[in-house]
Amino acid sequence: MSDSNKDRYAVLGNPIEHSRSPDIHQQFAEQLKQAMTYQRQLVPLDEFAASARSFFDGAGAGLNITVPFKLEAYQFADQLSERARRAGAVNTLINKDGTIIGDNTDGCGLLADLQNNLQWPIERANILVLGAGGAVRGILEPLLLAKPASIVIANRTLEKAEQLSRAFQPLADDVACQLSAQQYSELMESFDIIINGTSASLSGDALPIANECFNAACCYDMMYAKAPTPFLQLAAKQGARKIADGLGMLVEQAAESFRLWRDIKPDTRVVIQSIRKSL
Ligand code: ATR
Repeated sequence: MSDSNKDRYAVLGNPIEHSRSPDIHQQFAEQLKQAMTYQRQLVPLDEFAASARSFFDGAGAGLNITVPFKLEAYQFADQLSERARRAGAVNTLINKDGTIIGDNTDGCGLLADLQNNLQWPIERANILVLGAGGAVRGILEPLLLAKPASIVIANRTLEKAEQLSRAFQPLADDVACQLSAQQYSELMESFDIIINGTSASLSGDALPIANECFNAACCYDMMYAKAPTPFLQLAAKQGARKIADGLGMLVEQAAESFRLWRDIKPDTRVVIQSIRKSL
């Protein structure tokens, strides 16, 4: 079949050249024998809506959206899933007979990696979430639905952590989870799981967290890299029980986007291994 007869997908972002999404979706498509193409597309910062519109006007079947356009994708969608609404951001657009549906698979991807791949128990766990930006907003609903005993959101700017804590308080009450916001300097206790959702690793900055917090914790960085991130290096040094980076989350969120588009779920483990080798 020529490419022009295949369903078309793409990832839109800026920058985009380092995106692994085309490799991942290519592997899913081969695994499940799906007739589709998946391209990466660099979009100028002020042209997101025009680029997405032209993609769907040309009968494009679906898009992934990455930094910095997830909020604009939220505005762009004709309809939103409940989880996209809660996340306040969209990473997946689906063309359903001309209606563009916005969804968010990031949180679901993290939970799949934590629970299915890593087998870190969330139910009744005491969890520390570092950061209070868009990435953290996107994971709070699925984390809460997995019924941890407590979640502390800690952030350099306390006000943002407090805002998130207030926004998710009703859901926390529903699942009997104790939700609170703290400053890094106030953290003294140990946790079962620590999730780094800040972008501090990008600048190489260490987060000012007491050593006691890491004691026997399972530590997850939503970022990933060839070598352990600065956060995971610190966690290992301070006695973390286990460490894992966000490559599994990346592949799992892609698998959920793929399922939304194609109604079939790929086997992610082989793809995680293959992408890890290619880093
Ligand atoms: P994203 O969409 O990736 O979450 P964001 O909304 O800009 O991006 O949020 C970035 C997060 O990383 C924030 O929690 C930010 O802390 P502030 O709210 O205090 O800015 C955090 N962050 C980024 N660089 C950091 C650093 N060098 N030290 C500590 N926190 C940092």
